[in-house]
Amino acid sequence: MMRTRVIERKGMTALDVGCGPGLVMELFSPWLEVTGTDIDPHMVKRTSEKGMRAVVGDAMHLPFKDKSFDIVYCSFTLLWVEDPKRAIEEMARVARSSVVCLAEPDYGGRVCHPKEVADLDGPLIESLREERADPLVGRKIAPLMEEAGLVVESGVHSGVWSPNQMKKEAEAEWLSLFRAVQGRVDDFVLEKARTAWNQAVADGTLCLFNPVLYAIGHKR
Ligand SMILES: C[S@@+](CC[C@H](N)C(=O)[O-])C[C@H]1O[C@@H](n2cnc3c(N)ncnc32)[C@H](O)[C@@H]1O
Repeated sequence: MMRTRVIERKGMTALDVGCGPGLVMELFSPWLEVTGTDIDPHMVKRTSEKGMRAVVGDAMHLPFKDKSFDIVYCSFTLLWVEDPKRAIEEMARVARSSVVCLAEPDYGGRVCHPKEVADLDGPLIESLREERADPLVGRKIAPLMEEAGLVVESGVHSGVWSPNQMKKEAEAEWLSLFRAVQGRVDDFVLEKARTAWNQAVADGTLCLFNPVLYAIGHKR
């Protein structure tokens, strides 16, 4: 998406905010001269060890001068940032041309089937809030970019999966959901959800769609 919509020519510079271990940077390095920044020095070390440039930095106080990079992007970072508004303002400050939020989730828009599984959405959102994440950040990125003075286009990534793939990934998905909600709901609610989950996996009707939004903001 970013390649077709934003990268106009080779050799543009970019900053990856909240780069983690540099997975997205690796994808973009054939087209962009990318620098990463992350608040966690361990992540910066992992990215640097892959031969990419990365520095420790807080998204809310980016350690770069105004207009230092052509493009400034992030992915699954604003979910964890204490003040996403401030982070987007900072991204706009250090960008020359565009700010891109590649992917930020919105757990409030989850579509789950069966119902017994959907009943765990609320506890899942609570667990994220307890971890100091903003589970509804996806819906906020476009308006926050507009407030930061950017011209914005935004949307939702489509979810594509097959029953076969779902069967393969179901156990890991269940474990992650189970760990998040365990202790927040009664055991019998979890047992009912597990039984309904198994049935839906078996008949191929399990649906776990978590909207992930993107927004591209151009400087005026
Ligand atoms: C879920 S990971 C995403 C990593 C990477 N962007 C990706 O998509 O693979 C979120 C990253 O944001 C970083 N992070 C959280 N708060 C931050 C902040 N205030 N400033 C910079 N990075 C932050 C975390 O350390 C973590 O590496």
